[in-house]
Amino acid sequence: MRIFVFIAILSLFSCNQQTSTNPVIPAEKDKPIMYNMSEMAGMMEGIYGFNKVLRDSILTGGELPVFPEGLEYLHKAQATSPREIDSNFHELLDRYLAEMESIKTLTREEKIEAYNSSIKTCVECHQTRCQGPIPKIKRLRIPTE
Ligand code: HEC
Repeated sequence: MRIFVFIAILSLFSCNQQTSTNPVIPAEKDKPIMYNMSEMAGMMEGIYGFNKVLRDSILTGGELPVFPEGLEYLHKAQATSPREIDSNFHELLDRYLAEMESIKTLTREEKIEAYNSSIKTCVECHQTRCQGPIPKIKRLRIPTE
């Protein structure tokens, strides 16, 4: 599936970590400390990276990047805490996907609005599950007056 191609390999921002300035390199004897990323976490990292590119292209008014395909798969992707995948999750995911789609066709001002709404939906979903990345998700917002 194409989506997996752009997935970032390893993250220092899992659900429970707030920030990761100066990550400590584990001593050899402490290994393995590899963070075992779930299917969903891997896709989320990809979405995060995509949104950074998307934000920059909206800001500069440049051509939009190619949108990732197959994000509907998040509805059934394996997650670290499957009990968090409830009906509210599916609802918010559908909203996010629709908002993301609406970024494609609008004027620059409308793009910014649609983009920021989509980021708001990321945060909303994260407020009740996986709160660690919220600060870095909020930084994806495009500031408006
Ligand atoms: C519908 C709910 C929902 C939406 C919308 C959502 N997320 Fe997530 N996100 C999750 C869940 C649940 C996890 C935990 C996944 C796991 O650990 O299996 C997660 C995990 C993450 C992680 C951490 C991955 C890791 O390394 O552990 C990042 C970063 C992230 N999301 C960014 C985003 C961004 C950016 C957006 C919007 C562009 C977004 N998310 C939208 C539910 C959501």
